[in-house]
Amino acid sequence: MAIDVDARVTLRSMTAQDIDAAVELSREQGWPHREEDWAQFLEWGEGLVALLDGRIAGTIMGWRFGEDMATLGMVIVTNAAQGQGIGRKLMQAMLESLAGRTVVLNATDEGLPLYKKLGFEVTGTVLQHQGSVPAVPLAELLPGERVRPMGASGDGLGDLYSKASGMDRHALFDALAECGSTVVLSREHQPVGFAQLRRFGRGWSIAPVVAPDLGGAKALVSHWLGLNTNTFCRLDVTLESGLSEWLQKLGLPCVGRVHTMALGPAPKGGSEARIYGLAAQALG
Ligand SMILES: CC(C)(COP(=O)(O)OP(=O)(O)OC[C@H]1O[C@@H](n2cnc3c(N)ncnc32)[C@H](O)[C@@H]1OP(=O)(O)O)[C@@H](O)C(=O)NCCC(=O)NCCS
Repeated sequence: MAIDVDARVTLRSMTAQDIDAAVELSREQGWPHREEDWAQFLEWGEGLVALLDGRIAGTIMGWRFGEDMATLGMVIVTNAAQGQGIGRKLMQAMLESLAGRTVVLNATDEGLPLYKKLGFEVTGTVLQHQGSVPAVPLAELLPGERVRPMGASGDGLGDLYSKASGMDRHALFDALAECGSTVVLSREHQPVGFAQLRRFGRGWSIAPVVAPDLGGAKALVSHWLGLNTNTFCRLDVTLESGLSEWLQKLGLPCVGRVHTMALGPAPKGGSEARIYGLAAQALG
């Protein structure tokens, strides 16, 4: 018998008090997000929860970048409540809130049909690599190339990140720099890339990775891997980055993939520096 859930489902803004319930939802899906990860995501953006008979049965979050771009993620409906239209309701409400912007997301296979129905188009693939970090060889640096800690001035990395991603990521860069550590790739004393390391999920995330080319990206990632032997680390790298094969050979296996999708004109990253690793699947 078809049950009309409309009367039983209400949506409201997510607050810090909802995080315990949200962690339960992500754990049920086998996702690694800790309370702290949810709390940071909420601090940097906005969220909605779906209440089914008064209990939290679904979540969604969104992040605004500048005036014209946004990403969304943490779209979860508890297993027992799936297939009753709650995911669609959460998506429609968040898209309404983000109206007028291109919205980018990274879709699991489960989410893909819903997003396609809402008009999202696939623009890329992201590969999730993780595991206990093996001993890695030292990166081979080019003449004039260095990997060094970020300077107190920030080295203009917010600009670099924004140009590489095609969206205003200054605020996100500052937030990530505050909760993690940043190294800069410089060539002839000019900052041309960076990679950040922060606590996330089961261990540490090397995220994001922004570089001018594959060699630069490898130098940045090698730096953090070299300092984290035998520690659990994760990277979410784009398929076209070329990092996936290299990570696999190093002994950090690919454990999953998601589909990058956009609703609206896809952001255009610059050519000087590109995104090799995402800040997080949810944030893009
Ligand atoms: C993806 C997810 C959020 C969807 O939530 P849901 O409440 O079950 O989805 P809905 O009931 O609102 O269904 C939405 C639409 O997608 C369609 N759909 C859902 N799963 C589908 C599938 N496997 N194949 C084809 N269509 C599917 C439904 O038919 C529905 O279409 P309609 O609105 O035109 O009838 C939910 O399955 C989930 O939490 N999955 C696990 C976590 C996850 O992977 N989240 C996505 C992260 S990107």
